[in-house]
This record gives sequence, structure tokens and C-alpha cells, in this order.
Amino acid sequence: MKNNKIIIAIDGHSSTGKSTVAKQLAKALHYIYVDTGAMYRAVTLYAMRKGYIDVDHFDVRALESELPLIRIRFERNANNGLAEVILNDENIEKEIRGLSVSRHVSKIAAVSAVRKKLVEQQQEMGKDKGIVMDGRDIGTVVFPNAELKLFMTATAKDRAERRYLELKERGDDVSYEDVLKNVVNRDHIDSTRKDSPLRKASDAIKIDNSNLTLDQQFEQILILAQTKIKNS
Ligand code: DC
Repeated sequence: MKNNKIIIAIDGHSSTGKSTVAKQLAKALHYIYVDTGAMYRAVTLYAMRKGYIDVDHFDVRALESELPLIRIRFERNANNGLAEVILNDENIEKEIRGLSVSRHVSKIAAVSAVRKKLVEQQQEMGKDKGIVMDGRDIGTVVFPNAELKLFMTATAKDRAERRYLELKERGDDVSYEDVLKNVVNRDHIDSTRKDSPLRKASDAIKIDNSNLTLDQQFEQILILAQTKIKNS
């Protein structure tokens, strides 16, 4: 029986708890965890700060020309052991999670030059396997040969409720209606964009977690991962 390292690709709609289960899995398997949404959020924050994107305008050219200046990496927080996003040497972990970045991120993620840059970096991060990566195109584009692919979904209402509680907990002043609108809007843009739209890979296992507790979901997925690792 071999015990090789594998790639675990987790895709799905916004706020389906992909990162929660990805972190749990990475911890249990001693794998690296990469939150690719955080990378798109980092580029979005960069564009917002430069004034390249706002509700009514988006200067794609300006952003594209500065892509070589955008350096994104992850750094382990010594207190909680979790990876945090660093944009050009600044820790932006907290700032990218708010609703203002969420409002623009799907437009940024639809830009092919942005995707090309980030996908290359993600493929480099996973070249030695032993990685759990979550996003929208991991099983379809980044690692089409990943040994285990999961596609997570839940009703928009359930997802918005979870995200709303998360944002409230960190002290953000948001309304449930705005969060729901954002979740539905992002799903639409992410699924209909031309470049790498959100799709379930044909060989991905679909997990609807509307009626699963976190523990139940984790148990199911851990068994799937351990079985794949044993057989690979
Ligand atoms: O996972 P998240 O909600 O933090 O992702 C933020 C946005 O980034 C999401 O609306 C779509 C985009 N994204 C993407 O297009 N491809 C990925 N691999 C990850 C995220």
C-alpha cells in the first residue's frame, strides 16, 4: 500500500464553507492549504486603493499594466497557525474579507490577465502535491488532474445567513439583504464569465451541505481523502 501525497481541489459557490473544510482537511492530513479566493481579493484591494475600480468604473488597462507590481504570498500567523495574505509586504488578511472587497472581486476575477498570473502561481504552489486548494476553477483549470475534486454547494439563503453571521461577528455593519444580494450576484458573474467560469468538473464529487453540520461534512470528506491517498 502506497501513501502518496495528493492534490485536493475544492470548488463551489460563494460562502459554501469551502475554506472551513479545506483548513480542517489540511490540518488533519498535514497538507498545505491555499485559499485562492484570497489571491483574487488581494488584487481587488490593490485595484480599489489605486482607484482603478469602483461601482461605476473599472480601468482594466491600468490594472493589467500594473500586474507585475502585485506580489501576493501567504504567511503563517504564529498565534493561530493560519495562513494570512500578504500583498506587497503588507498583511491585508482582515481588509480583504469585508463586503466592500466582495462587491468588486468577481469583476476583477473575470479579467484573463489576472487569472493567468494567479493560476501560474497556484500551479507552482501545488507542484509537490500535499495541498488542499479551494476556489472556483481548481478542479477544472488549475489542477485538472487533481486526485480528489469536491464541488460544494448550498442554497443561497443558507450561504448568505452564514456569511452575514461571520461579518457581524467581526464587527462589520452589514445587512442580511446586502449580503444575500452579493452572494447571488457573485455566483452569477463567476458562473457566466468567459474565462474559467465556475463549473463542477465532471469528475468532482458534489456536496450539498445545506443540511450537514460542520462535523458531519468533515467526516465525510476526510474519509474520501483518506481513501484516495491510500489508493494513489
Ligand atoms: O472564495 P472567495 O469568496 O473568497 O472568492 C472571491 C471571488 O474570487 C469569487 O467571487 C470568485 C473569485 N475566484 C475565482 O474566480 N477563482 C478562484 N479560484 C477563486 C476565487
